[in-house]
Amino acid sequence: MVTIGNIELPEFPLLLAPMEDVSDPPFRRLCKEHGADLMYSEFISSEGLIRDAMKSRQKLDIFDYERPVGIQIFGGDEEAMAMSAKIVETVNPDIVDINFGCPVKKVVCKGAGAGVLKDVDLMVRLTEAVVKSTSLPVTVKTRLGWDENSINIYEVAERLQDVGIQALTIHGRTRSQMYKGEADWEPIAKVKNNPRIHIPIFGNGDIDSPEKALEYRDKYGLDGMMIGRAAIGYPWIFNEIKHFFKTGEVLPAPTVEDRVEAARNHLKWSIDWKGERVGVFETRRHYTNYFKGIPHFKEYRQRMVTHDNPNDVYAVMDEVLEKFADYKPA
Ligand SMILES: Cc1cc2nc3c(=O)[nH]c(=O)nc-3n(C[C@H](O)[C@H](O)[C@H](O)COP(=O)(O)O)c2cc1C
Repeated sequence: MVTIGNIELPEFPLLLAPMEDVSDPPFRRLCKEHGADLMYSEFISSEGLIRDAMKSRQKLDIFDYERPVGIQIFGGDEEAMAMSAKIVETVNPDIVDINFGCPVKKVVCKGAGAGVLKDVDLMVRLTEAVVKSTSLPVTVKTRLGWDENSINIYEVAERLQDVGIQALTIHGRTRSQMYKGEADWEPIAKVKNNPRIHIPIFGNGDIDSPEKALEYRDKYGLDGMMIGRAAIGYPWIFNEIKHFFKTGEVLPAPTVEDRVEAARNHLKWSIDWKGERVGVFETRRHYTNYFKGIPHFKEYRQRMVTHDNPNDVYAVMDEVLEKFADYKPA
């Protein structure tokens, strides 16, 4: 068993990565139903939260069925981070997570996210400010360092543990790598093997199959792993990995029925959460992923993303069920 504060997770938990514009309540619900053990919200700007930006506040929505769930914040100012941790606490998540790895060059990431990776003292001060301002367990997600010449994760892990974080997830890339190359889990294992480290260490980066998950679990000896891109349009990945760990067998790939059901639920839950107009609009970006690999699907996807009335989208999904009834996933 792995514990974060008083949260008990199963042995070698699988975490859903925080992903901007992806890890929202409907998507999280799908991942939860398909085996994710701990999930995080997409990142929320501390400055945005304090300004009460509507979009930031909506990202605080969490539901009991998805627990344990963490809310992720980022920012470069201690006071703003402490204040936003307090705001986060009002919605009663299980964890507050700090993002120190933001790879996006957007305005929202200025002076925050991975920018902080160059300044360990600042990382420590920001983390300490958050830990002191909340009674919730605080976790951190970060990268190996700024670039290959400044890999500082060993020092970072010790110092963040010393100021009270209760788990650390490490993406095995540097900030300057963005998503290039392959994630390197060796440094993550080195953090875990440091005898001074006693908090759970989770690995992240490029896990995209049960086989790879097993290989990395056995090779690196971490406390669990976090999965991001492989879960987009494919929430089945979590149970597939768990099943493979348990039995060594690969579960059959999801059928067209499974895919339609997932897409249908995603749309329905988005509408329940944000209303018809926004729900229909925001679910559009997911259809390609749910139906990836099905040949000659383009026409159906095209129609799904043009209808404004959800009933029309559901009708296209019914057609998909009929048209591809005999489709066998590879
Ligand atoms: C679309 C997208 C959005 C992301 N948004 C966030 C975010 O909000 N916070 C964060 O810490 N990381 C974010 N990441 C990074 C992921 O959490 C994860 O570290 C990265 O994708 C590597 O894991 P993977 O190879 O399993 O995808 C994002 C990644 C993607 C692809």
